[in-house]
Amino acid sequence: MPAMVVVGAHWGDEGKGKVVDMLARDARMVVRYSGGNNAGHTVINSFGEFKLHLIPSGIFYPETTSILGNGMVINPATLINEMDDLARRGINIKNRLFISDRAHLVMPYHTLLEGLEEEYLGGAAIGTTRNGIGPAFADKIARLGIRTGDLLDKKAFLERLRLVLALKNAIITKVYDARPLSLHEIYDQYCRYADRLLPFIRDTVSMLLDALQKGDNILLEGAQGTLLDPDFGTYPYVTSSSPMAGNAALGAGISPSRITANIGVFKAYCTRVGAGPFPTELKDQTGEAIRERAHEYGTTTGRARRCGWFDAVAARFTTRLNGFNGAVVTRLDVLDVLPTLKICTGYRLNGKMIDYFPGSVDILSKCEPVYEELPGWQTSTRDIRSYARLPANARKYLSRLEKLIGCKIKIISVGPSREQTIMRGNVW
Ligand code: IMP
Repeated sequence: MPAMVVVGAHWGDEGKGKVVDMLARDARMVVRYSGGNNAGHTVINSFGEFKLHLIPSGIFYPETTSILGNGMVINPATLINEMDDLARRGINIKNRLFISDRAHLVMPYHTLLEGLEEEYLGGAAIGTTRNGIGPAFADKIARLGIRTGDLLDKKAFLERLRLVLALKNAIITKVYDARPLSLHEIYDQYCRYADRLLPFIRDTVSMLLDALQKGDNILLEGAQGTLLDPDFGTYPYVTSSSPMAGNAALGAGISPSRITANIGVFKAYCTRVGAGPFPTELKDQTGEAIRERAHEYGTTTGRARRCGWFDAVAARFTTRLNGFNGAVVTRLDVLDVLPTLKICTGYRLNGKMIDYFPGSVDILSKCEPVYEELPGWQTSTRDIRSYARLPANARKYLSRLEKLIGCKIKIISVGPSREQTIMRGNVW
């Protein structure tokens, strides 16, 4: 059977946590393939409400194995907190949660250096989550990273840490004039983490390949959104690992040919956290009303999310790039109260219409959105469970989105719980 990937289609926070939690019911394994604890996936189910930053949102099914893939960077303190929280609330993680021995570790100097770099950038700061994610991925590519598998041999780990930390301390002290970090403090702290995490660290790639060979369903859980991709997003206002479907195979360790279902998750409107251009941003009362009604505040940092109308230019771009063969629209219910809705169908650039998403942030920030207006439905959709029962104007809105993005909407979410979902056929 296939592998399915679930990808954020705008700037993240599309509601992938709920979608993965639902789809994981039919999966034997769920694998996070990118990012780190910059992500924040909210899941509400019969066990309660959970904010997951690292552990895949499939952890709630007893028969499902959850894997932190090689494409992730892992802050061990956050992971241990998350594991303890789940255990405290009755979710068994033993023999069900595994960490790739190839995943990289977020180290204290990553968090410190990211803070110093953001301060240095001043007005040009990226507005990162300050969790050290960018520096950890930079070290991976610069071949200065430390991987979870390195914790298996404490002596070798000490030597590796000694080598890397000397370089980092030189930057911390000589470039930023800040206080150096202590080798022994970090070593002792990470040895304690190692003692907790060792039973979970595995060669997860063979586990996955064996599962695929047996015909098991594998769900690949994305983090962030395509417009935060370092290549195709609004560079430099992006994250540091690829959230896209194309990276799912790499970040989990399977062949791309195994991925047959490729699901893009869109919110019924758009949001963005941090700096960078956002053509349909609403800096008015409507934007404020959406933020308050939807409680659009970051799961990881608590920052207010910028809110705006659905950007179909961006959505069409990310759909074509990822090759989505199914779409999910979340938070439709947030729009229940609005008298009219707008969808951005094109951009005006220097007086001319364009219908593509520019590669340069300078150009994108000069683009003015061109809107199509649709009537709202002004009635609650929260208790509706079938497409046919949605108000006619809600169906019109969704079918217009479907046409503009060029992909069938297979799932519609009308509230945070698992039940508040409208399915339109099979997604696997
Ligand atoms: P970083 O990933 O912490 O380096 O942050 C880089 C950019 O990505 C910032 O604009 C963050 O706000 C944004 N970002 C990172 N993770 C998420 C997420 O899970 N949801 C939404 N935005 C995110």
